[in-house]
Amino acid sequence: MALYNRNFQKMDIDLKKLERLNSVVTNAIIYRYEDMILKKYWVCTQFAIEEKMFDVLSNIRNKHLMELYEIFRIIKDGECEHYKELEKKKGHLVIDGYTAKYYQAEKINPMTMDVNYLLHNIEGLKELIDIISENSIMMCDTKPDNTIINSEGIVLIDPDYYYFTDEIVFYIKRHNYRELLLLLRMLFIDHAEEYTSKIGAYFDDLTITHPERSIEQLEKDLKRVRRPIQIIDKRL
Ligand SMILES: Nc1ncnc2c1ncn2[C@@H]1O[C@H](COP(=O)(O)OP(=O)(O)OP(=O)(O)O)[C@@H](O)[C@H]1O
Ligand SMILES: [Mg+2]
Repeated sequence: MALYNRNFQKMDIDLKKLERLNSVVTNAIIYRYEDMILKKYWVCTQFAIEEKMFDVLSNIRNKHLMELYEIFRIIKDGECEHYKELEKKKGHLVIDGYTAKYYQAEKINPMTMDVNYLLHNIEGLKELIDIISENSIMMCDTKPDNTIINSEGIVLIDPDYYYFTDEIVFYIKRHNYRELLLLLRMLFIDHAEEYTSKIGAYFDDLTITHPERSIEQLEKDLKRVRRPIQIIDKRL
């Protein structure tokens, strides 16, 4: 087995040195290779990143989105020439996976850190959403599992998103803001489990039909406290 990039060049990766990162019950297998990750789809699903979307996402320079390097396909040794020719004739590449930057997670609790950490990240994530939405990409499955949190910030790492060709940006943006709101709700719950019902109640009170306004409200509340969790404490 060998990995070939979109230009059909063999990728210089020692497959014996791959370190498996995720569990078996997913649509993809994630490996770490030095300071890079390699995500390989073992079932072709609708969520698998496609070339056009990869190009759009990899051109976005925003520190809250995983830095994408290259898409690749897997070719069994000996069949390489055959596939190479076939691919060229067809004029497109069938993607088996992608490589991206590896991010080290840290044991930090954004809920008990200085509130500016979360405020800065929300600001950056909103900018990212604006760019993604304007490119007609709908964010999906945005949850803590699909983010890396460290002192540098919050990074979205599992971009199995949908690409729309004729959708109205307004609706896509609203959907993406709702994803952000849900992510923030889950981050609060994950990092302050003892307050689960209070956190649920706080977020339920925010108007989910207007996620942009809800996030503004959340930011307003955050600006009144020193640590994010205090906005929940206030309600006790
Ligand atoms: N760029 C990365 N940096 C650090 N860790 C990563 C990175 N990408 C993935 N991981 C680790 O691997 C886990 C699984 O990755 P990911 O969310 O991309 O795929 P998945 O959820 O297993 O697959 P899918 O959602 O496509 O079925 C993450 O929760 C994270 O721990
Ligand atoms: Mg995931």
